[in-house]
Amino acid sequence: MDWRGIVCPRNYLGSLIRALLLITILFFLVYGSLEQRCKEPGTNKKDIAIREFLSKGESFQRRSGDIQLPVEHVKNVTVVTAFFSLGNFIKGTLLRREDFYQQNAGKIAMVRNPLIFYTNSPEIAQQITFFRRSYQPSLQTDVIIMNINDSWAFGLRPRIQAIFNQDGYPKYHPQTINANYSVAMHAKYEVMADAIKSGRVRTTHVCWMDFGIWRNEEGEGFEVGIPNDVIDGQVAYTEIEANSNPTPRNIVYLDMVWVVGAFFIGRVEAVQTFCTDYRRGVHWMIKHFLMSTDQQVIYTLYSKHFKLNPRVHIQTYRAPPEFSHSPWYYLAYRCRRALH
Ligand SMILES: *[C@@H]1O[C@H](CO)[C@@H](O)[C@H](O)[C@H]1NC(C)=O
Ligand SMILES: *[C@@H]1O[C@H](CO)[C@@H](O)[C@H](O)[C@H]1NC(C)=O
Ligand SMILES: *[C@@H]1O[C@H](CO)[C@@H](O)[C@H](O)[C@H]1NC(C)=O
Repeated sequence: MDWRGIVCPRNYLGSLIRALLLITILFFLVYGSLEQRCKEPGTNKKDIAIREFLSKGESFQRRSGDIQLPVEHVKNVTVVTAFFSLGNFIKGTLLRREDFYQQNAGKIAMVRNPLIFYTNSPEIAQQITFFRRSYQPSLQTDVIIMNINDSWAFGLRPRIQAIFNQDGYPKYHPQTINANYSVAMHAKYEVMADAIKSGRVRTTHVCWMDFGIWRNEEGEGFEVGIPNDVIDGQVAYTEIEANSNPTPRNIVYLDMVWVVGAFFIGRVEAVQTFCTDYRRGVHWMIKHFLMSTDQQVIYTLYSKHFKLNPRVHIQTYRAPPEFSHSPWYYLAYRCRRALH
């Protein structure tokens, strides 16, 4: 199928999107003020549940907004993350210039969980090892230096760049422009699968954490726990919008997001199967001349238009209204427990 044949002229699409955006904003302005007036605060079931939830158990302070979330103290979780040095600046959380690395390396290294870290840079590998020896000397730390020339994800770069270079392809910076950014997102699922397959993960659960996820966070160390409502056999993500089963093309062309790629957690076996299905999603999209980030791949996999039927359910966590300052990281904060 020739996807290029059905692309709208770019400026027509642009004004359509602008008009839709304006309508959406107006809707939320009007609806928001109505809702505020009509709402009896704290009497519906959801509010009560949230209040109870906020008042019990372990909690931590978040800098912006001071919201407290309880975190169950079950701690059998390995953290997997990565940083790829490509010597260039790309907006995003996994792949930036070195100062981004410098700001975040210490924060990640403080995590009081087993840590598996992938990088293509021997210098960065050495620094992370040093940080871990200083902060968490008694915990498992596996630092893996990978050659991105041998990587499945990085090997897709020429094909993805060709997709991005199609006439009329949408221009969302950087996810539909810079193939390095896109492949670094796919690499998450490659290194996660490798961490599990190699036997380095020795816990019941495993989580992925984007390298820069705690960049606005201050404080000493923290640990990652498993919320007690995490469902066995599923992979949990933060949900941003309900899955409306859009077409794969709309997901990419309108930059739609269902769940957030920065953090996910699940039982090891479920995550492993999920990573295999993820690859199938990437190859399906490439075959159909579509690509963007892991968020669009996952949406495509779990939209009913996809014919490969992913085997693992995604459990979604949606931020309550009290957490509206940082809804994209809600599940990450549910799992985070500060140490004092
Ligand atoms: C992508 O990464 C490679 C290094 O692997 C680098 O040489 C190249 O300049 C990067 N491309 C862009 C567009 O950033
Ligand atoms: C990766 O491949 C490029 C081009 O073939 C080569 O110049 C470079 O040295 C390789 N890098 C490593 C780390 O093997
Ligand atoms: C954590 O999980 C591993 C692997 O299943 C198990 O051997 C270990 O006993 C668990 N540890 C705790 C504290 O539950």
